[in-house]
Amino acid sequence: MSEIKKVAVIGGGTMGNGIVHVFALNGYDVKLVETKQEFADRALNTIDKNLSRMVSKEKISEGEKAAAIDRIQPHLNIPGAVMESDLIVEAVPENFELKKKIFTEVDEHAPEHAILASNTSSISITKLAAVTKRPGKFIGMHFFNPVPVMKLVEVINGLETEKSVTDAIMETSKKLGKVPVPANDFPGFVSNRVLMPMINEAIFCVHEGVAEPVHVDEVMKLGMAHPMGPLRLADFIGLDVCLDILNVLYDGFKDPKYRPCPLLVKMVDAGKLGDKTGEGFFTY
Ligand SMILES: NC(=O)c1ccc[n+]([C@@H]2O[C@H](COP(=O)([O-])OP(=O)(O)OC[C@H]3O[C@@H](n4cnc5c(N)ncnc54)[C@H](O)[C@@H]3O)[C@@H](O)[C@H]2O)c1
Repeated sequence: MSEIKKVAVIGGGTMGNGIVHVFALNGYDVKLVETKQEFADRALNTIDKNLSRMVSKEKISEGEKAAAIDRIQPHLNIPGAVMESDLIVEAVPENFELKKKIFTEVDEHAPEHAILASNTSSISITKLAAVTKRPGKFIGMHFFNPVPVMKLVEVINGLETEKSVTDAIMETSKKLGKVPVPANDFPGFVSNRVLMPMINEAIFCVHEGVAEPVHVDEVMKLGMAHPMGPLRLADFIGLDVCLDILNVLYDGFKDPKYRPCPLLVKMVDAGKLGDKTGEGFFTY
């Protein structure tokens, strides 16, 4: 497998701008694809701001920041962005039909040797790989929010992912200063399969009157050394996102242990989604 040097990132939202940030800072040429100029500008502004924060904390120099910014090239269409890329990382919203459309186009225009990676939290890597003509060169590259800070990259092998592709992505993740951890493609991978049932159980504790949200979180922080309680974390992730992932686990395994707590469903119906709406288990 030839060395990965040129990268394209599709989507410059919460995750995409962080992914562009870490690639550019670590010497990769990065093409950032967005749907509108204003969205590309917003992503570039966020990256600029986050790099400046690293300069003020003396983690990088002004020169390193400038060099990173210079390596980023915004694009408004996929063909031009992926044409010469060795790796394409997709970070558009969590919607199978949208990702399918994007990977079909990426597959058509990316060079034959290019690796296609998705940052999906819950969609099957094997199913996404199957929309392309290169399932062996398809992999999950699951970054965590905020990307410049969080060390983990969950590297998810689809049913047909070639070993050389896994090795290349593990190696590339290390070059980004991350710690890659391999996993196989099953619903929720490792991260959400373990996290979401815990969050769901914390919500059941509130639902059944076992304890108030603040007390559930205190138990997990003080007793289990969690830096953030499960309900505070659920609000941060978004209660709608938690519900969607629990439904993926429930549908994927057909096992009632993953059934979403009725209180979670009710809060999502009420539009209380956590930080992004100002109210969830806590108010912001
Ligand atoms: N937010 C998280 O904490 C988190 C963590 C891990 C993984 N993920 C996964 O990462 C992916 C992205 O999530 P996010 O939170 O960054 O979403 P987001 O909504 O913040 O960003 C998505 C971006 O994609 C852009 N986009 C939409 N359609 C596009 C297209 N056709 N071409 C190019 N860009 C397009 C949007 O303009 C937007 O800027 C999802 O699959 C999500 O499950 C999210």
